[in-house]
Amino acid sequence: MPEKIIEVSGLQKSYKATPVLKDVSFTIDKGSIFALLGSNGAGKTTVIKILSTLLKSDGGSAVINGFDIATNGDYVRECISLTGQFVAVDEILTGRENLMLIGALKRLPNLKSTVDEWLSFSRLEDAANKKVSTYSGGMRRRLDIAMSLMGNPEVLFLDEPTTGLDPQNRIAMWELVRDLAKKGTTVFLTTQYLEEAEYLADYIAILHGGKIIAEGTPKYLKERMPERGVRLNFDSEIKANTAIKLLTEHGISADSIEQNLPSLEDVFLTLIDERKERTQHEKI
Ligand SMILES: Nc1ncnc2c1ncn2[C@@H]1O[C@H](COP(=O)(O)OP(=O)(O)OP(=O)(O)O)[C@@H](O)[C@H]1O
Ligand SMILES: [Mg+2]
Repeated sequence: MPEKIIEVSGLQKSYKATPVLKDVSFTIDKGSIFALLGSNGAGKTTVIKILSTLLKSDGGSAVINGFDIATNGDYVRECISLTGQFVAVDEILTGRENLMLIGALKRLPNLKSTVDEWLSFSRLEDAANKKVSTYSGGMRRRLDIAMSLMGNPEVLFLDEPTTGLDPQNRIAMWELVRDLAKKGTTVFLTTQYLEEAEYLADYIAILHGGKIIAEGTPKYLKERMPERGVRLNFDSEIKANTAIKLLTEHGISADSIEQNLPSLEDVFLTLIDERKERTQHEKI
C-alpha cells in the first residue's frame, strides 16, 4: 500500500447558514497527482483553504504528512505550498526579483543559484529581468508556481492552475505538473476541466453537493459507466463510408472493434444527473 500523505475525513464547512462542505472524505497517496473536480461554487477552493490552514473547518479532520491541521498548523504549513486561484505575483518587480524576495523570506541558502534553477525550471530565463507587468498569463502562472515551489514542499496545492490559459500554455503547465510529480512532490489540484483531470491525475475525486460523489483513477471512473457503445474502425474513409451505406445489406466486416469508453465529461454529467433525479425523488 502506498503511503498516504493526506487523509481527510468528514470535513464540514458552512458560510453563515449555507453549508458548502457536508461530509468530504478522501485520501491521497504520497507522490501522486490528485485532482478535485467540481463545477463553479462546488467548494474546491474551500477544501484547499481548509487543508492549507487558511480557513478553519466546522467539523471533520485532516492529517497532512502526519500532522493534524487543527492542532499542528505550523508543521503543516512547513511541508505545503499553495498557488491560489488568482495569481499572486508582484507586477512592479521582475521575475527574478519576485523569486529572490520569496527565497529571502523563506531564508533559503544559495539564493542566487536557487533562483536561477527555478527560473530555468519554469522556462522564464529569457524574461527573468523583465517586469512582471509585461508577462503573459501563462508566464505569470509559471512564476507563481515557481515561487510556491522554492523550498521544495512535500505537497503543492494548485487551485485551478490552467484557468484562463490558452491551449499552448495549458499544455506547458501540464508538463510542469508532471515534472513536479516525477521529482516526488505530491500535487493536489482543483479543476473544472475534465480533460485536465483525465490527462494529469492519478486519482480523481468529484465534489458535488458538499460531498465526494465519485472517486477513483480516470480509467475506473470511465469504466463504471453502465452504458458503453461499440465503435467500428475501418482502415480507409472510403471503406467506412461504403460500409455505413451497405453494412446491413452486404455485411461488410469491421477491421477492428473496440470498446468505446465514455469521456470523463460523460461520467461527470451522468453522475450529476443521477443526483438531481434522486434529490427530486427524495423531495416527492
Ligand atoms: N467567504 C465566503 N463567504 C460566504 N460564502 C462563500 C465564501 N467563500 C465561498 N463562499 C461560497 O461557498 C461556495 C463554494 O465556494 P468555493 O470558492 O469553495 O467554490 P469553488 O469550487 O472553488 O468554485 P470556483 O470553481 O468558482 O472557483 C460558493 O457558493 C461560494 O459562493
Ligand atoms: Mg475556486
